[in-house]
Amino acid sequence: MDRTFVMIKPDGVRRGLTGSILNRFEQKGFRLAAIKLMHIDRSLAERHYAELKEKPFFGELVDYLTSGEVCAMILEGEHAVANARSVIGKTNPVEAVPGTIRGDFAMDVASNVVHGSDSPESAEREIGLFFDEQAALYLFPTPQVAASDNVAFH
Ligand code: GTP
Ligand code: MG
Repeated sequence: MDRTFVMIKPDGVRRGLTGSILNRFEQKGFRLAAIKLMHIDRSLAERHYAELKEKPFFGELVDYLTSGEVCAMILEGEHAVANARSVIGKTNPVEAVPGTIRGDFAMDVASNVVHGSDSPESAEREIGLFFDEQAALYLFPTPQVAASDNVAFH
């Protein structure tokens, strides 16, 4: 199954949009495989957006990402990267159509509430930056493991 990395940015968490945003992905058909709330430091923000480091807005972007807690998640589903980006909408909320997350919840490119990986390779790199895979497996067992736990319980 394909997977992608999605992060609700600090403005989304601060505005209490975490549930509404997660709901959009679950309604689309994604399975939530891991989720955590965290306050990221400048080093992680800079590594996450390393390909943008020459952009004039890079400092502002890092300030934004470190301004409060983010909600990091791994989502699983068919064509996970492309489907997540279509749920998210265009980078600039001015251009994002209604019905997309940025179209419905954001006004400005500097605070566009959510991130989604742009390729399967980026998704794996970003999951590696934000998640300890062993811990994620322990906290979020596969449905098969959960089912056998239930059998043992009864
Ligand atoms: P992400 O899912 O967050 O990676 O966005 P994206 O893939 O749609 O766009 P891109 O990777 O090109 O840009 C990353 C982020 O940089 C955007 O989501 C914005 O938060 C931010 N950004 C892009 N353009 C500008 C800008 O002109 N000014 C500021 N302040 N931020 C920008
Ligand atoms: Mg991007």
